[in-house]
Amino acid sequence: RPRVLSGIQPTAGSFHLGNYLGAVRQWVALQEAHDAFYCVVDLHAITVEQDPKVLRQNTRVSAAQLLALGIDPDRATLFVQSHVPEHAQLGWVMQCLTGFGEASRMTQFKDKSARQEQSVGVGLFTYPILQAADILLYQAHYVPVGEDQRQHLELTRDLATRFNSRYGKTFRLPEPYIVKDTAKIFDLQDPTSKMSKSVPGGVVELLEDPKRSAKKIRSAVTDTGREILFDAENKPGVSNLLTIYSALTGRTVESLVADYDGKGYGDLKKDLGEVFTEWVTPVQQRVKTYLDDVASLDKILARGAERAREVAAGTLRRTYDKIGFVLPE
Ligand code: TYM
Repeated sequence: RPRVLSGIQPTAGSFHLGNYLGAVRQWVALQEAHDAFYCVVDLHAITVEQDPKVLRQNTRVSAAQLLALGIDPDRATLFVQSHVPEHAQLGWVMQCLTGFGEASRMTQFKDKSARQEQSVGVGLFTYPILQAADILLYQAHYVPVGEDQRQHLELTRDLATRFNSRYGKTFRLPEPYIVKDTAKIFDLQDPTSKMSKSVPGGVVELLEDPKRSAKKIRSAVTDTGREILFDAENKPGVSNLLTIYSALTGRTVESLVADYDGKGYGDLKKDLGEVFTEWVTPVQQRVKTYLDDVASLDKILARGAERAREVAAGTLRRTYDKIGFVLPE
């Protein structure tokens, strides 16, 4: 079975609708026919300052959300990145392979460091290189992510190619798995920029009170005119709402447009608020159930880490050998 790997940061606690529609929804679908590895990337989270208590809690909250959203720990390997030390170890090897200029071209670093108020750490700079290690350790065929991760995937492929040509074939070149329709969910208050936890505005959080979400949806910025049409260029606000509506209900955008013919933006937004509430309410209940039994949750994660380590340790050992390290007996 083809291998899949992806990761999500625990930084914010709650995932937002962009995380779910852009990535996690695909994780759930892919676990059926693929050998899937999904991790909560706590090593990545500390590239900006974290309160230890909050980080520990948010890591569990993230794992609980993945389970509540449909990740099945009997099918997929669900784990916490820091439980598998090979990530940091291969990360170092990859750092030694990356050009300074190459790392400097990462646009997400430029955005994040520009927004950062405290001093910017070196870890934020080398962040995509650790991400490459995450992927290459598992010899993943596909990496399901949103559009914003495309450049990091290109770096990953470049590093794998470089390593392979220098030391002999070691890593598989992973393909990004990006579902076009939902690859970029936009902010409800600014439908020209992506929904993002680091730019709070019109961000719909999965764990907030659904009443609050419905209100955010009702007050989403829409466009001039009054017709409900999908036109990402000229009607980014309405188009974003249609994308979300379609993804949550499984209905096509065309059928929604036909249904809302003659109705107004207000109707669409009110209905979408209800659709979201209905979808998210049982998810929230399941999250709560997982968090009420932390011992069982931690056990699921321990089992995942054990499975992940079996694969990761093998890749790291082969890598060390190729490099010319004396392998410990
Ligand atoms: P993170 O935690 O920022 O986001 C998790 C996933 O959500 C996607 N996403 C979106 N998709 C559509 N529309 C949006 N508005 C939106 N916002 C976020 C992201 O593309 C991502 O797929 N660097 C990664 C985490 C990571 C990783 C990895 C991913 C670490 N190691 C290895 C894949 C493979 C990140 O910061 O994701």
